[in-house]
Amino acid sequence: MTRESPPCRPQDLGKFEIVNRDGAARIGKIHTNHGILTTPALLPVVNPNILTIEPREMWDNFAFKALITNSYVIWKHEKLRKQALEQGVHELLNFPGVIMTDSGTFQSYVYGDVEVGIEEIVEFQRDIGVDIGTMLDVFGRPDMTREEIEDAVDITAVRAIASLRAAGEKLLLNGPIQGGIHQDLRAESASRMAASEAGGKRFSVHPIGGIVPLMETQRYSDLFSAVLSSMSMLPPDRPVHIFGCGHPMLFPLCIALGADLFDSAAYALFAKDGRILSEEGTHRIESAVEWPVSSRYLEDYTPMEVRQMDKKTRTAVLARHNLEVTQRELSRCREAIRNGSIWNLAERRSHASPYLRKAFKEIMAIIKEDSKSPPGLRLSSIIFSTDPVRPSSEPFGEDISERPHIIHAGTLLEKRWRLPGSWWDGSTGPPSNVVILHGSQPPWRTAYGSTVSEILQHEPKTALFVNTPLGIIPYSLEDLSPWCRVEGSDDSVLVDPNSAESYIRLDRIGLQDTPLEYRTASDNEGMMKSEIKTWLDRCSTVDRLAVLCGVKPSDGCRITDGMNVRHSKTGRPVNILLGERHLFSPRLNDGGLSLALEGAKALHSLVNVQPPLGFSSGNESHLRTHPGIARVTIHSDAVPFVGAGRNVMHGFVIGADEWVTVGQPCLIVDENGSLVAHGNSNSTMLEMSVQRKGVAVRVRDGVLT
Ligand code: GUN
Repeated sequence: MTRESPPCRPQDLGKFEIVNRDGAARIGKIHTNHGILTTPALLPVVNPNILTIEPREMWDNFAFKALITNSYVIWKHEKLRKQALEQGVHELLNFPGVIMTDSGTFQSYVYGDVEVGIEEIVEFQRDIGVDIGTMLDVFGRPDMTREEIEDAVDITAVRAIASLRAAGEKLLLNGPIQGGIHQDLRAESASRMAASEAGGKRFSVHPIGGIVPLMETQRYSDLFSAVLSSMSMLPPDRPVHIFGCGHPMLFPLCIALGADLFDSAAYALFAKDGRILSEEGTHRIESAVEWPVSSRYLEDYTPMEVRQMDKKTRTAVLARHNLEVTQRELSRCREAIRNGSIWNLAERRSHASPYLRKAFKEIMAIIKEDSKSPPGLRLSSIIFSTDPVRPSSEPFGEDISERPHIIHAGTLLEKRWRLPGSWWDGSTGPPSNVVILHGSQPPWRTAYGSTVSEILQHEPKTALFVNTPLGIIPYSLEDLSPWCRVEGSDDSVLVDPNSAESYIRLDRIGLQDTPLEYRTASDNEGMMKSEIKTWLDRCSTVDRLAVLCGVKPSDGCRITDGMNVRHSKTGRPVNILLGERHLFSPRLNDGGLSLALEGAKALHSLVNVQPPLGFSSGNESHLRTHPGIARVTIHSDAVPFVGAGRNVMHGFVIGADEWVTVGQPCLIVDENGSLVAHGNSNSTMLEMSVQRKGVAVRVRDGVLT
């Protein structure tokens, strides 16, 4: 067979690279001997004895780059075993892509014991040329006692070592996580399987096992809790697979929680049973007059015509439809990761079933609660690994305030924003009144600009806030997303400023006794005094440095003292300068702040502690209000490249601040703390500590350029 799917570079075998992400959801690449597999992906289950759809057709017509089959079934059937050993599994199945195999554990769950040995089944997978094999784990059923589940976890972990040893160099291995519905045992299993090692070999993928009975009985809360608990202990460089999960309506939430791979026989099993899949559920065709969901495989027939087909043809037509719908939903999920809307999609899909909706709500509550604990664990990283600022707009909805990036942005605002220390007329001290602007849709600078001008002209010491659908925010951040990017009709988003839950609470910032006034947009079109405009521009810059980069407001004031601004034709600040030195560029599409090299140098001059060497987490440093701009320390070998403007690659990072934030600015320094470059982080600290492939920081400028 010609290699239609060329092997990865030998040194990359088994590596998992993250190329795009939305919080814990990621688009990754798994490097294998039969190509580089893009995730999230579903591997259709192929039973070598019953090929409902030929694997070759899956490759040619459905773009499946990987499938999963069962090595135990091949091993058990004399003819298949002989053929596989002689020709290899790729020839046996006529599939050029990545082949993953399972080990017989599921058969032992369905039929009782299997006869194969622990090492024997791994060696067999190795000998038939499998890309990613699976060890013989012990299936933990939800109805087992805690003691039985403890045994399943323990025996699986003990077997891991012999299995890794038997795999040899080329066979990548799945290390399944068991634990039933006991979340502590799931976490223990994940931690032991992740740490398992034999002769330098570790597991390449971690499937979450024992969940099929949870899905069959729609116990989705237990399913998602198992995913959350397992994820909390897995290092981010290991792809996570959900064994036996193949219903498209479950993909978005599983992916939002960090799942990378799925496998399922659902496309064939449901087809056999006369059922078709959609991203919103399952539909029986027995009494359908029209298709509730369509695909290129159904559009030529009516449901009646399909019902009249012989069983084999009907099953094949429905299975093809099911595969297409599955692939379509995965494309949608990957695109949602790229444009930062995976939680929005998960939220939409959660309405597919009352069980799913309930589970979604419960999982949101767990994640929200967890945001109060340090982000050392993967679980809380669901919130803290999101880029809080994003250019795309998002629809207002019932669950909006629970989307992780909104919680993240709100937490940063709550912790890091401060009232201005001085006012446009040079006066200092606390504000003498508070005004909340309300009643208009964004852009708020257009709606409220003249009102703001009037108010400040009349009383310079006014603390100005804008009412948004997500609570009040300082007027200085009026064009910052997510607040300015929430879309909805007037009656949904123009909420009563008194009723909104808010990350800024006037009592928490000492303004409970300051006179408060609510104002709507005025019709006047007066010019804003230039001193007021200059002061507002400076507040905007200092506040963005504080909220997004962790810079102390007093430091922000210091480095922007005497700043001047170049405005766009529409009056928005585009360059922040200090004389001729270009410090920052406010980002017009999302309200974030880009550093220029001079700005990076100015922020670097504020840092007077040793550069981070190593990756310490859990010391609560992220809870310090203004820890300063995050730094990433790189190996001396990388300094000439990064200094010349090349990206920081994983493997060259030797330390990072815990509060480095995905998508936001950071400084890149050498071991002595000298500035090498600046850029936007592509990763969390935890990822920088373990990833060995891909971009850690996207560099904007190197100091040597
Ligand atoms: N397929 C579905 N569930 C499981 C599991 O827990 N372990 C293995 N090896 N395969 C599975």
